[in-house]
Amino acid sequence: MSTATSNRTILIVGASRGLGHAMAVEFVKKGWSVVGTVRGGTTRTLLHELADQHPGQVDIEVIDIVEPDQLAALKQRLSGRAFDILFVNAGTTNPDPTQTIGEVSTGDFVSLMITNALSPMRVVEALEQNVTPAGIIGVMSSGQGSVGNNETGERELYRGTKAALNMFMRSFATRHAKSSRAMVLMAPGWVRTDLGGPEGRLSIEESVPSLVNVLLSMEGTPGLQYVDYLGRTVPW
Ligand SMILES: NC(=O)c1ccc[n+]([C@@H]2O[C@H](COP(=O)([O-])OP(=O)(O)OC[C@H]3O[C@@H](n4cnc5c(N)ncnc54)[C@H](OP(=O)(O)O)[C@@H]3O)[C@@H](O)[C@H]2O)c1
Repeated sequence: MSTATSNRTILIVGASRGLGHAMAVEFVKKGWSVVGTVRGGTTRTLLHELADQHPGQVDIEVIDIVEPDQLAALKQRLSGRAFDILFVNAGTTNPDPTQTIGEVSTGDFVSLMITNALSPMRVVEALEQNVTPAGIIGVMSSGQGSVGNNETGERELYRGTKAALNMFMRSFATRHAKSSRAMVLMAPGWVRTDLGGPEGRLSIEESVPSLVNVLLSMEGTPGLQYVDYLGRTVPW
């Protein structure tokens, strides 16, 4: 039986571990229904454990966002379903993030741009009609996607992919300027996950509960905002 205490639903794309899984936990605590995605295969993830603990409140969908066929199939499966929030969290980094842009191989460049910039936008474009008119479309960006704040270089390719993601989301927002939905590019802070590494400044607990409250606070404010986990506007 469902333990959801509200009739509100979020779709989190990329919820197997790390920040996406922690967001799913947070929304479950708030009584929301959660549909989270994992990549295919037989491996059990933290999201599967969450679904076992909250039968009827957490559903699992499967998609690798870089596979257009899988996106088309997900769109088909979700046809007619309405979500209060669509949040695209999935993202990664290149094998050697210390490389300067001139050192990055063409293959790594193309691969990371596809995963971090092109594919999240394809998900947004494909599923935006599933978001309620007063709902929220969120995408996990990064403070490292800020051009204005880049005073150290470092993680050059990763920065470029998130800056590109920001630009594409801004283009999407201008095309939907009359939409009543809130749109959010989120910077979670430097968090100790597999991607953030052990040196990260924040624990997941220090970032995600606040990030979720910031996301929810955007509801009812149409237009695109680029904010961090404390609700501070990040310069483009
Ligand atoms: N941690 C930080 O400090 C930090 C800072 C700024 C922004 N971010 C952003 O936050 C997001 C989550 O990062 P994280 O720190 O939680 O990293 P993580 O622990 O490495 O988790 C990455 C998540 O993205 C999923 N994913 C990656 N590629 C995918 C694909 N092609 N299709 C579907 N799902 C895919 C992973 O699924 P699998 O389990 O299947 O691999 C996993 O659920 C990313 O967009 C990242 O760029 C993180």
